[in-house]
Amino acid sequence: PVIFAITPTYARPEQKAELTRLSQTLLLVPSLHWVVVEDADKPTKLVTNLLESSGLSYTHLHAHTPPAQKLKAKDPHWTKPRGVLQRNTALEWLRSDGPLQVAPLDPEGIPKGVVYFADDDNSYSVRLFEEMRNVRGVGVWPVGLVGGLMVERPIAAADGHGVASFNAGYKPERPFPIDMAGFGINLGLLRDHPHAKFLYEVEPGYQESQLLKQLTSREKLEVLAQNCTKVYVWHTRTDKPKMREELQWKDQGRPPSNLGIEV
Ligand code: UGA
Ligand code: MN
Repeated sequence: PVIFAITPTYARPEQKAELTRLSQTLLLVPSLHWVVVEDADKPTKLVTNLLESSGLSYTHLHAHTPPAQKLKAKDPHWTKPRGVLQRNTALEWLRSDGPLQVAPLDPEGIPKGVVYFADDDNSYSVRLFEEMRNVRGVGVWPVGLVGGLMVERPIAAADGHGVASFNAGYKPERPFPIDMAGFGINLGLLRDHPHAKFLYEVEPGYQESQLLKQLTSREKLEVLAQNCTKVYVWHTRTDKPKMREELQWKDQGRPPSNLGIEV
């Protein structure tokens, strides 16, 4: 099976650094197709160049977040869901003929693949991708540094049927209290549920649950990463770079430090 890594991304000073880091992790993973969805009304040069020179197999899509759903500079980051429209755009592509060109087909002609939502700012071990490659429905695993804990993780059921509970601290009452980085979905399952998608109209923290509810149940989850005892992905977040001098230069009429230079 091919791993389809879905990455929403948006323009900001650290974008190229994030995408460079992620692309160079993904280069270490065999049989992986990167689906990058820009939050922009047209593809940007920066992302186009990065993908062309990445050495990866990829699909470049774009979908601009409607202004009403976009975070303002002063909004706390959790007040609006992020990546909703971008991931839905990728889901549409995954259900189209696109994957047929990329993945081997099973006897019924369904492309064999596993879909993973790989945000541009997280940190990934290459081991994560081998864990998820043979997921038949939905696979789950721990995520480090998320939800106010060192690790959020599913607890495997003693009878071997899926997940008994989750050790989440943040809104543990959610149907699936896990981060976007904590699960992978078989492509065939997604294609069998053509209407399953993300929504803007959900409470903060419920994006993952809202999607997973449509596709699976706790007893069916495939418990990976040594029974959910190993951490292969971390929900890191990049500090917003300070641009004080840059802004001062601008006020003084000096040219920007990156004039003619892509950073
Ligand atoms: C957490 C989860 O890890 C996300 O997967 C989830 O989408 C988010 O909460 C949520 O509840 O919506 P967090 O680290 O706060 O994530 O989110 P970001 O990393 O800022 O954004 C998630 C992805 O969306 C990133 O790949 C980012 O580049 C992209 N994004 C963010 C956009 O495409 N447009 C934006 O305006 C903001
Ligand atoms: Mn993030």
